[in-house]
Amino acid sequence: MPCRIDPPDAEGHRTPAAAPLPAPLAWIEGAIAELRAAGLERPHRVRAGRQGCLVDLDGRTLLNFGSNDYLGYAGDVRLTKAASKGSCAEGFGAGASPLVSGQSRAHEALEQALAGLLAVEAALIFPSGFAANTATIAALAGPDDVIASDERNHASIIDGCRLARARVVVYPHRDLAALDALLAAAGTARRRLIVTDTLFSMDGTVAPLAGLCDLARRHAAILMVDEAHATGVFGQRGSGLVEELGCADGVHVRVGTLSKGLGAAGGFVAGHAQLIHWLRHTARAWIFSTAHPPGVAAAATRAIRLLGAEPERRRELLARAEVFRLRLRRAGVDVAAAEAQIVPIVVGAPAAAVALSEHLADEGFFVPAIRPPSVPEGRSLARASLSWHHAPDDLERLATAIIHARVA
Ligand SMILES: Cc1ncc(COP(=O)(O)O)c(C=O)c1O
Repeated sequence: MPCRIDPPDAEGHRTPAAAPLPAPLAWIEGAIAELRAAGLERPHRVRAGRQGCLVDLDGRTLLNFGSNDYLGYAGDVRLTKAASKGSCAEGFGAGASPLVSGQSRAHEALEQALAGLLAVEAALIFPSGFAANTATIAALAGPDDVIASDERNHASIIDGCRLARARVVVYPHRDLAALDALLAAAGTARRRLIVTDTLFSMDGTVAPLAGLCDLARRHAAILMVDEAHATGVFGQRGSGLVEELGCADGVHVRVGTLSKGLGAAGGFVAGHAQLIHWLRHTARAWIFSTAHPPGVAAAATRAIRLLGAEPERRRELLARAEVFRLRLRRAGVDVAAAEAQIVPIVVGAPAAAVALSEHLADEGFFVPAIRPPSVPEGRSLARASLSWHHAPDDLERLATAIIHARVA
């Protein structure tokens, strides 16, 4: 069937009119209908303007609790200027993988800044945090190995485990005794790899890092942690929960992202220089993917400098988050075991999460609904991601709206 093309709009863009799916793809219609019936169809929203305290979504201006811009740097003009300067110096596109075309100076400076922030020998930048996790896990474990993964780990860790083709044992969330038993049963595995988020993205819970270090030591396992949601927010220097909890000596591989607390984009792995050297030979998402733009690397380096200059941002964010969680808990709201700036309002059914999110939007707050497979069945929630931008009064107003929504 010929493709039907609408006439160009005022800017010359042409949009194909909706046509029936070609026969080999016709199953998609039924699959989407099933998602819709289960309350799992996702909205496609368009955002106007930059990330900040307020967000303009589909023409509605809402107080923004739906971004991971924890420190308020994503829309910060200082990052925009750094990105622009970096782009002017080295061009916008990176052109190829760093292995093929050489690494830009901006990426080199960023790796050094990260190694300094984390107080490790070396770091490696990936186009995204997702790529950093998948590539690193597959570079460290293979079919002869066992990977022990927390049941609430991020999708990029789950996919990395699949990619490694190792035997994967999933342990109950933060359950050290269960992990101990699984590692003891790992038998003749060539290597053991324990992998965990440090701050869990859906639950706002913190991994028991000291206990994990102890188990890794006792079972001669590699310990890899993903600091995606903790980078910038925790630790004296802002490097994350490994620093905050004093576990640097026991953690072998630290993954993180530049896209959340740092307000930029890209992922990283940090640790021993030989580890990074190995990843340069084996991490496929680094070897076979174009580096992200040098201007983005320059913006991320600027954000790392800001972490040092503005420690009050993380302190204020965490202090306000504590007050917010306490207020909700005292009112009987189920925020699970959250203990950081990510606060889930657990309601159970997907439809209930959507209803709460929509109700809060009507009250002026953007608090997205999170449903399976992002969370287990029966644990759908509305997730409030707090940012330094939110004033205590904003948080109080949101808490009041949540409490009233739940008693209504
Ligand atoms: C725990 C965790 N790890 C990794 C990632 C991926 O990071 P990025 O968005 O930089 O790809 C995310 C993103 O949501 C995450 O929550």
